[in-house]
Amino acid sequence: MLRKTAPLLLLVPLLLAACGEVEDTRPGKPVATRQQDFKAILRSFEPMGVQLREKRYTPDTFLKLARELDRIKAAPWSHFGPDTHYPPTRATAKVWQEPERFAADQETFLAAVSQLRAAAESREEARVGPAYQAVQDSCRSCHKRFKK
Ligand code: HEC
Repeated sequence: MLRKTAPLLLLVPLLLAACGEVEDTRPGKPVATRQQDFKAILRSFEPMGVQLREKRYTPDTFLKLARELDRIKAAPWSHFGPDTHYPPTRATAKVWQEPERFAADQETFLAAVSQLRAAAESREEARVGPAYQAVQDSCRSCHKRFKK
């Protein structure tokens, strides 16, 4: 069993490399940095959704996550400088073609996250649900236009 699976495991990194996992080699790694910032946002956002969907809202942990999201919500934006539309980015060209709209989508998201935190501070599930939904809508509507 072991002898059969070991070579396969060794192959996985090679296959990933062959599939075009491009490394960000630019100074300051703006693309890789903003992608990591988004992943951190997802790591605090997703577990809140799990609590709500599985109907096990836990005010204390929810509040912790909402505060963390509020703290890191603005991290990605400063890394979308000019000339940062290159592999491995998944941003669309519209980010740079429609900067006002991209900025407006950021504002909508930032405001929704602040609202979610305020709702979480209230510890009322009836407030938390719609506030979570509003944040999710803001992620989706930005991704629809600005992420591949
Ligand atoms: C104002 C626009 C905007 C908002 C709001 C936004 N994102 Fe994104 N997100 C992007 C863009 C653009 C990228 C692509 C970045 C790149 O690859 O250069 C991205 C990338 C990501 C990634 C990286 C992985 C991937 O698929 O490339 C994750 C995860 C992610 N976003 C999650 C979220 C979540 C969760 C929210 C809401 C809680 C959110 N984003 C809100 C624009 C946005």
